[in-house]
Amino acid sequence: MRVRTTAVFAGLLAAALAVTGCSNDAALTGSTEGPGDRPAPSADCPLASAPDPGNSEPPADVPMATAAPKLEPKDSYRVAFSQNASNNPWRLAETASMQAEAEQLDHQLTVTDANNNQAKQIQDVKGLIAQDPDALFIAPITEQLGGVVAEAADAGIPVFLLDRDVDHSVARPGEDYVTVIVSDFVQQGKRAAWAMAQATGGNAKIIELEGTTGSSPAIDRKKGFDEAIAQCPGMEIVVSQSADFTRAEGQRVTETLLQSHPDATAIYAHNDEMALGAIAAIRASGRVPGTDITVVSIDGSRDALTAVEAGELYATVESNPRFGPKAFETMQQYAEQGQVPVQLILSDRLFDASNAAQHIAEAY
Ligand code: AHR
Repeated sequence: MRVRTTAVFAGLLAAALAVTGCSNDAALTGSTEGPGDRPAPSADCPLASAPDPGNSEPPADVPMATAAPKLEPKDSYRVAFSQNASNNPWRLAETASMQAEAEQLDHQLTVTDANNNQAKQIQDVKGLIAQDPDALFIAPITEQLGGVVAEAADAGIPVFLLDRDVDHSVARPGEDYVTVIVSDFVQQGKRAAWAMAQATGGNAKIIELEGTTGSSPAIDRKKGFDEAIAQCPGMEIVVSQSADFTRAEGQRVTETLLQSHPDATAIYAHNDEMALGAIAAIRASGRVPGTDITVVSIDGSRDALTAVEAGELYATVESNPRFGPKAFETMQQYAEQGQVPVQLILSDRLFDASNAAQHIAEAY
């Protein structure tokens, strides 16, 4: 297994550079090799020697939801959850977290699974509206689900969006839905770019595997990564294609793209499942994942942490699927106080060789 730098080391390195006034590791050591067998940080890529950017500052002045349908305080609620898919461990963990919390709090929860199909999710939500639940949780497949979210509000049902957003010009925050509980996907993309710069020294020809087209994580994880690598002239996306957040597509798309871009040295996958498919494709092509091709992704699943430990995945930025406690706490707060902020941002960790092993047991 290769030895890799940790976030802590990067921080110390940045501090050392600040003290000495040196611009990169090569200047300190006189070598073109970085720590372990990693390339030395490129002098023109500040990301390669900076510390992990971490979570973003909580947004200031988030308005309160005051014009969405109200929820009467009760001891027990009839609630519904429209899940967009159950085709990966992340989705299964999110659903399990919602079910466990509902059971714990003695709420009655109905769950639908849209099977990764937007038309089906729209029908699912319409069916749930017809059942007139006290509250409706939706994990929207794409941002185009705004229309049916507004239909729920028109029917007087308070909607809470989980893990993905919708188009605000169609469904108004705080009016057509109460709040959206999400990670900062732009920041996740920036942290993935940081990890990629750490692993490659700031020189990489990158294949990007995008998530489901039109979904907020696919849009924002691309944006954050693009913005961050713009600081590093040696980091270039040579091709970018959707693999729909699934392992099978990740493998199939990577097999094709490695053939059309044999000079690629890195893969940025918008989630772990696609990264794991990409790792299988790299192996099948006769190359060594983690050595010939650096892979970075987002989520923090058990399989991904195991791949980090094996040296095949450099890092994965956490996107925590365990929404149950926060979702029901927010619903309760809305019922009791009549208002909550229209957006609630979660904090995420970053897993690399320095800490992956210690988190495998708790992962999903
Ligand atoms: O919306 C969050 C994303 O959706 C997760 O990263 C992905 O694995 C899931 O399907």
